[in-house]
Amino acid sequence: MSADQTVFLNGEFLPIDQARVPVLDRGFIFGDGIYEVVPAYGGRLFRWPQHLARLRRSLGKIRIDNPLDDAGWTRLVEELIRRHPWRDQFIYLQVTRGVARRDHAFPKDATPTVFAMASELQPVPTAQREHGIAAITLPDERWLHCDIKSISLLGNVLARQAAVDAQAVECVMFRDGFLTEGSSSNVWMVRHGTLFGPPRDHLILEGIRVGLMDELCASSGVPMQTRPILREEVLAADELLVSSATKEIVPVTRLDGQPVGKGVPGPVYQRLFEAYQAAKRAA
Ligand code: PDD
Repeated sequence: MSADQTVFLNGEFLPIDQARVPVLDRGFIFGDGIYEVVPAYGGRLFRWPQHLARLRRSLGKIRIDNPLDDAGWTRLVEELIRRHPWRDQFIYLQVTRGVARRDHAFPKDATPTVFAMASELQPVPTAQREHGIAAITLPDERWLHCDIKSISLLGNVLARQAAVDAQAVECVMFRDGFLTEGSSSNVWMVRHGTLFGPPRDHLILEGIRVGLMDELCASSGVPMQTRPILREEVLAADELLVSSATKEIVPVTRLDGQPVGKGVPGPVYQRLFEAYQAAKRAA
């Protein structure tokens, strides 16, 4: 938290240390809400229409009426960016079902809580780009609606901490022997020059970089396939990558302490990384 950070809460811009939410907010009590994380480079939102569409989808799936229209969200987010000095930022948006007496069933007349915050977007550390990161494999023990960008993130939090406890940066999760995703990123496998990603179903969050990856593969001539991916295939991969709003694309070069492929960032990563930078410049 930075002392001069301004946040948006329920219609007001205010200093972060003055922003308060009632204890009966259903986000606090039940984790009953959704969120978004959107990068902005040089003051310009990146893939904003796609993030906005996913925000609408998440709200629809948990039956919260969208508290703002697209123009309202855009004005809010652009104003937040304008109020902060950092060249690159990421915007965190959160909507909860609002404040109500504690009862699991939806309250009849609660007003959704709307919160938004800008933070500095740090570049991916050079060491991670040059040497890659370590990851561990884990069983995916989360619920079956991972397509919703829910603020109920306990499964993801425990998975990420397991990675940190093992001196790794991220985890690679499997459900019933098939690849799903990381604790806060999508996971990609490279075999014989082709990039493979798991099905875009309810078992993963369809990252905004998932759609972007289709475009990056097309522009950099990397063949791509979406299909169920076995754990054994991941363990034998030539390259592994993770993608997210804050990590962009990062190579995983050690998995459970073993080198992935040659143990260094591979050629497909290099091409996709360059294509990503070009997409940022063009945005
Ligand atoms: N997380 N899968 C999960 C479980 C995630 O939490 C994220 C992003 C992604 C990648 O989605 P995108 O490309 O839209 O960032 C996949 C964000 C960054 C977070 O929770 O901070």
